[in-house]
Amino acid sequence: EKGGYDYFMLKEIAEQPQAIADTLRGRLTEHNEIALDEVRLTDQDLRDIDKIFIIGCGTSYNAGLVGKYAIEHWTRIPVEVELASEFRYRDPVLDRSTLVIAISQSGETMDTIMALRHAKEQKARVLAVCNTNGSTIPRESDGVLYTHAGPEIAVASTKAFVTQIIAVYLVGLHLAQIRGIKYSDEVAAIVDQLKATPDAVAEVLQTMEPVRKLARDLSGSQQVLFLGRHVGFPVALEGALKLKELAYMHAEGFAAGELKHGPISLIDDGVPVVITVPSPRGRSLLHDKIVSNIQEVRARGARTIVIAEEGDTAVEPYADHLIRVPRTTTLLAPLTTVVPLQVLACEIAAARGNDVDQPRNLAKSVTVE
Ligand code: M6R
Repeated sequence: EKGGYDYFMLKEIAEQPQAIADTLRGRLTEHNEIALDEVRLTDQDLRDIDKIFIIGCGTSYNAGLVGKYAIEHWTRIPVEVELASEFRYRDPVLDRSTLVIAISQSGETMDTIMALRHAKEQKARVLAVCNTNGSTIPRESDGVLYTHAGPEIAVASTKAFVTQIIAVYLVGLHLAQIRGIKYSDEVAAIVDQLKATPDAVAEVLQTMEPVRKLARDLSGSQQVLFLGRHVGFPVALEGALKLKELAYMHAEGFAAGELKHGPISLIDDGVPVVITVPSPRGRSLLHDKIVSNIQEVRARGARTIVIAEEGDTAVEPYADHLIRVPRTTTLLAPLTTVVPLQVLACEIAAARGNDVDQPRNLAKSVTVE
């Protein structure tokens, strides 16, 4: 049932290209438009939206954080991302013209269910992004966009994460399209790149052997830090979450720009720091900033594990370990750069003798608040 893999998690990591392809299937036209008729919210509903909240827990929250960068950039609609468990307790400003996107793999997470009920009471429109047909969250939402990741058995979420990003991006592109905002060549080009992501992720999966070796090396570390900027920041949070839940190690993700505001004091001789680097093409300022962050932590003794795209030579002098991913645009990079972080967490956990698929104290679906 594990398809020849030692753990469900490894099987599910390997299924990501297929999961992405399945989530895109039927939703992109040959003219690079987005077809989301299934969403049940009318174009008029979507045109009236002036604010978006994305809510979720754990990995689903991290996918929402990635989504914010893309949706705001494409649609110019303000997006806030909030932990579902915090949302309803702080009296958020919601009304008919608010769209709440509730992200959940299981569709049964109680924190997210309670948050969506609160949103509905306040008359907001709720759209579920969910992997489980007919579960509570899509049933109680006004509309649903299913991720087609297939059943996810391992407690640690992997293929659900990448398909949630895809689904939220489709919502963003759809909104941009029907509102006629910024639906420019840039957006059409993104659709082409989306179609190429299954192959890009498959390529990353081919090169994971050195990551496995590195994982064995790191399995005795006290802590691992993760850094990123822009969409690399939620990827850092996701890498740290995976490592915490599976390896029971102290792991934290930071926005690289925050280092100097506190976290840099955690850096000591040999502390592993994983850094995802955005493409040097395009947003070069972002790239240059993170290269100097890599230098900063290395100068203080960190062991740098750098995830950078093919052809990025600027990082080479500062990387103790260099993991290459295929070239992509900044917004799509999380889909490839998260893969080595998933493999790293899985293999460190295995090296420490932990139960990879069923980490202690955790359940796949958290049905209590
Ligand atoms: O089923 P959901 O997406 O609503 O679950 C949310 C979180 O409980 C879940 O993502 C959790 O953080 C994972 N174990 C992370 O790997």
